[in-house]
Amino acid sequence: MPTPYHPSQFYSQEIAQFVIRLVYVSTCVNGLHLDDVQSIVSTAQQRNEKLGISGMLCWSGEFFLQCLEGERGLVTQCFARIAADARHHSVELIVSSPTNVRWFSEWGMGFSRLMSSHRLDVDSLAGQAFNPYLLEATDMQAAFSQLSQHAQRLRI
Ligand SMILES: Cc1cc2nc3c(=O)[nH]c(=O)nc-3n(C[C@H](O)[C@H](O)[C@H](O)COP(=O)(O)O)c2cc1C
Repeated sequence: MPTPYHPSQFYSQEIAQFVIRLVYVSTCVNGLHLDDVQSIVSTAQQRNEKLGISGMLCWSGEFFLQCLEGERGLVTQCFARIAADARHHSVELIVSSPTNVRWFSEWGMGFSRLMSSHRLDVDSLAGQAFNPYLLEATDMQAAFSQLSQHAQRLRI
């Protein structure tokens, strides 16, 4: 009998070539408040830490932009749960690629609250107000590097 597949055992082997980075953008439902988003971050932080998933969630009051890094199967399952969540819609995947280097190895799940007028210094946004749907995959590292300067690691 083959041993049943168990994602967390699989992760514990840290097979570098199966670590991916996934970035998506979405629009939050009307009426979502900071408290609601902090509760999302708190859940994310607890669950992701157990699964070895690192990353950052940015929220502008209108849009979400999230980066998830970890073992491919676990990140895929996590993203499937997130994409089905009724607290946001219009989920679009921008990046899903293998990586050897985590951008957020220090963070379970960082959180950055942005003003909708926030400007990122990247080519694809060209000085416009924060609209992550316009972000190109090639600008992602620069975008998260700037966003992480505003981020906080929530204590749980
Ligand atoms: C914008 C957004 C980001 C989220 N990020 C995460 C995450 O990183 N990890 C996670 O486990 N859940 C995250 N969630 C919550 C999941 O959608 C889901 O509610 C949670 O994982 C519990 O799933 P379950 O009820 O199927 O157990 C996020 C939700 C939203 C709306």
